[in-house]
Amino acid sequence: MNQKIFIFDTTLRDGEQCPGASLNTNEKLEIARYLEKMKVDIIEAGFPISSPGDFEGVETVAKNIKDSTIAALCRAVEQDIKCAWDAIKMATKPRIHTFIATSPIHMEYKLEKKPQEVLEQAIYAVKLAKSYCPEVEFSAEDASRSNPEFLYKIFENVIDAGATIINVPDTVGYAQPDEFGKLIQGIQENVPNIKKAMVSVHCHNDLGLAVANSLESLKYGVQQIECTMNGIGERAGNASLEEIVMALHTRKDFYQKLTDIDTQYIYPTSKLVSRLTGFVIQPNKAIVGRNAFAHEAGIHQAGVLKSASTYEIMKPQTIGLQSNQLVLGKHSGRNAFKSRLSELGYQLDEDRLNKSFQQFKQLADKKKEVYVEDLEALMSEVLIEDMADIYELKYFHVTTGNNIAPTATVKLIKEENTLEDAACGDGPVDALFNAIDRITGVKAKLSDYYIRALTRGKDAQGEAVVEIKDDGMSFVGKSVSTDTLEASVKAYLKAINKMMIRRVKNA
Ligand code: KIV
Ligand code: ZN
Repeated sequence: MNQKIFIFDTTLRDGEQCPGASLNTNEKLEIARYLEKMKVDIIEAGFPISSPGDFEGVETVAKNIKDSTIAALCRAVEQDIKCAWDAIKMATKPRIHTFIATSPIHMEYKLEKKPQEVLEQAIYAVKLAKSYCPEVEFSAEDASRSNPEFLYKIFENVIDAGATIINVPDTVGYAQPDEFGKLIQGIQENVPNIKKAMVSVHCHNDLGLAVANSLESLKYGVQQIECTMNGIGERAGNASLEEIVMALHTRKDFYQKLTDIDTQYIYPTSKLVSRLTGFVIQPNKAIVGRNAFAHEAGIHQAGVLKSASTYEIMKPQTIGLQSNQLVLGKHSGRNAFKSRLSELGYQLDEDRLNKSFQQFKQLADKKKEVYVEDLEALMSEVLIEDMADIYELKYFHVTTGNNIAPTATVKLIKEENTLEDAACGDGPVDALFNAIDRITGVKAKLSDYYIRALTRGKDAQGEAVVEIKDDGMSFVGKSVSTDTLEASVKAYLKAINKMMIRRVKNA
């Protein structure tokens, strides 16, 4: 019988840890809901001790998600463990995930501890975590560069202390597939009580081997794989969920393993994560990249027309990717709109549906042809607009030309007060951003700004992405419009709103 592999998604923790990807509570919950629909077994919602904002995010996910286990990360220290438990204690299925580094490099330079001290701290942490929560995962950080004998010893001891899952991270993405497989084999053969725990792997992608290493480990009895949507994460990222799941799905004959993942949700979840984090998916990214199912060469197209199996090993529909044909027009009704959205994986409550239908009608008036990408862009706007903002855009006006200084006037609403100011700039966007800075009094550094066409044609919708930095933290704002100046202003305001909300929460 095919053995089940548990999928542990850490998009909201390791994924969110990469610079610029910061997600607020509503965004975390939105992604968690999609992960739940996708039937992810475990959602690691965050690292609660790291900030009050992260605590709130984890707690909110724990209170709202019922089907998936909710894990919270904590170092192997008392206050982290208590904080992690406080954040997830309302979860239907909580899991404390505690870790300590076990490699000589980390123990000597980072922890400044002897192996014996690390061993004792790990046992203490697992016992404490177990006193709160029946499910405890223990990770030996930098396991792939640790002394295997020390790993065997620490895993044996933490299992005796109550750990139900032991995780083997390739923290710096250093391992090679064969070597990583052998490490897991060694653990299975040399940890006497290993059968009392589930063995998990957590691979980073510094050498582009995260997925290969994770899949290799399955040969040696690994039951849980840790991964992220679109492979986002620290540095070069983590093993990508969609690649792992689709490899197991497409090559069942080879792996003879299965997951519970509903693959139809892969594409919508990937899109949502990309939009909310601001991390654009490379066009040739396996499974979810724009070109992953596009056949360009004539010889390939001819083959696919005769039989898709010539060049297609997976069907786009399996991951929830519909064809990009014209979907709706300005005469389309609410029911057609609702059913098309649901095919794309968006189940909306009545309020959101009404709101998005009105926006769809406005868009259909501006654009003759409304494509799948247009609907997705619109949905991301609707989802993001649900966030309670501090400043809202009321109006803007720009005067620009090749012989005059670009000047912008902006009106914002803050708690029912209208605030207005004007400013000049090096270009219309600079002028608009300067006017917003004057109104809000914010002095954040603009660290990134770009516009890209999301859809096709002269009336294409443009997505503006703005990243600002404040006190070492990045805040990304995004917006979509057929008017790129409007998209830029709204994106900039979103980034500022996120920054202000974070400041208020951390005050
Ligand atoms: O990469 C890593 O080692 C981690 C652990 C905390 C599991 O993210
Ligand atoms: Zn990691």
